[in-house]
Amino acid sequence: MQIFKTIAEMQTWCREQKRQGQTIGLVPTMGYLHAGHLALARAARSQCDTVVVSIFVNPIQFGVGEDFEDYPRDLEKDSQLLADAGVDALFAPSIREMYPPGYNSYVEVTGEITGKLCGRSRPGHFRGVTTVVSKLFNICLPDLAFFGQKDAQQVMIIEKMAKELNFPLQIVRVPIVREADGLAMSSRNVYLNPEQRKQALVLSQSLQQAQELIRAGERDAGKVKQLMCTTINSSPEANIDYAEIYDADDLADVDEIQGRVLLALAVRIGTTRLIDNLIVEVQ
Ligand code: PAF
Repeated sequence: MQIFKTIAEMQTWCREQKRQGQTIGLVPTMGYLHAGHLALARAARSQCDTVVVSIFVNPIQFGVGEDFEDYPRDLEKDSQLLADAGVDALFAPSIREMYPPGYNSYVEVTGEITGKLCGRSRPGHFRGVTTVVSKLFNICLPDLAFFGQKDAQQVMIIEKMAKELNFPLQIVRVPIVREADGLAMSSRNVYLNPEQRKQALVLSQSLQQAQELIRAGERDAGKVKQLMCTTINSSPEANIDYAEIYDADDLADVDEIQGRVLLALAVRIGTTRLIDNLIVEVQ
């Protein structure tokens, strides 16, 4: 596996791949890789000739007081995992390479899709994400770019951005990978102590219970949200940031559950903020 640290080298290499007729699959990550990231790399491996993974802890998507400094990093271990997964190239630029002094250009998706859920709790977060992802698209020239469904709002926003800004590529959503007990894989799970790790199960449990209630015929979104909150609040360390139900295609408000809906959660377990979601479809 080749490792590139500069934009110029990465872009030149990707241009050469394209000149040779290779399709490029890009997997953008912030590193500290887990099985969820490796599922993205596997999906890219099976659908593209050349697979590029980026590792960059993007400072501009973290707010003041968030965990940018503490975010776990292990480039050596990550490189080994990616090489073992058959990845062709790793792009691991420095902050200065991506945002040199005097940097002033940002990409922002506005409207309802960014104003809710994590967009409301983390102002500026998605502007940071869409800016870095646009840069990665321009540097790595992917035909396909792979994102996890765990960040459901993020992938919806990136799809909208790619469509509206005419990026010549396809976004591929990859399903959430969970631990055997249901906890969604996340680099932030390492922050949890053993007791918090147990309590974190209330996220996936509340989604499952909500799904069961909907399948049993409940159509009142308020009642389903209430059940989600009751389950989460049974954990003494849990603090709900949001527990919402929105239209799964455009995040429009939902009072009566119909069609495809997104059940979305952000919950602090101790000081660790975790997100999870489930799409439920009703006829
Ligand atoms: O999902 C992530 O890990 C990040 O938000 C992304 C897409 C790599 C952008 O920094």
